[in-house]
Amino acid sequence: MSFWSRHQIFEKNSMILVAGIVLVIAIGGIVEIAPLFYLKSTVEAVEGMRPYTPLELTGRNVYVREGCYLCHSQMVRALRDEVERYGHYSLAAESMYDHPFQWGSKRTGPDLARIGAKYSDEWHVAHLNKPQSVVPQSVMPGGRSKDSG
Ligand code: HEC
Repeated sequence: MSFWSRHQIFEKNSMILVAGIVLVIAIGGIVEIAPLFYLKSTVEAVEGMRPYTPLELTGRNVYVREGCYLCHSQMVRALRDEVERYGHYSLAAESMYDHPFQWGSKRTGPDLARIGAKYSDEWHVAHLNKPQSVVPQSVMPGGRSKDSG
């Protein structure tokens, strides 16, 4: 008997079909649910994680309000070129206080997950007001100050 004629057993007997469906869904369910029981051992702890300060939360709200996530991601993927450019790839625990997550996937601009130590505060002020003042070829939109581009 060929594979397709054996398949007729399911097509001709609805109870066998239902049993087959239940079995397949059960396997799919186990594959999805079982790893959740091991979550504690798969999520690496990150030292020094703490809830955001009020000032950091205010900044985060500006980030969301201004739609920075439309051009920037905050998740370094575990790929060699990304790790060489941005630093250690992002770990799940690093976003544990981030609701909603700002991982994003659109990268018109670079990833910002590890931007913190890269530039001085003055650089950021200049860049946010008028990106072209520090990165001449930038297409990032500037802020609302009078010298913005
Ligand atoms: C229209 C797309 C766009 C939006 C919206 C946008 N950016 Fe950018 N951003 C860019 C591009 C392109 C660059 C790379 C050129 C540059 O450095 O200006 C960049 C660069 C940056 C950098 C420097 C990154 C580095 O590694 O040098 C920072 C920091 C930054 N953006 C923050 C922000 C913040 C904060 C917001 C929201 C207020 C924002 N961006 C909104 C496109 C965007």
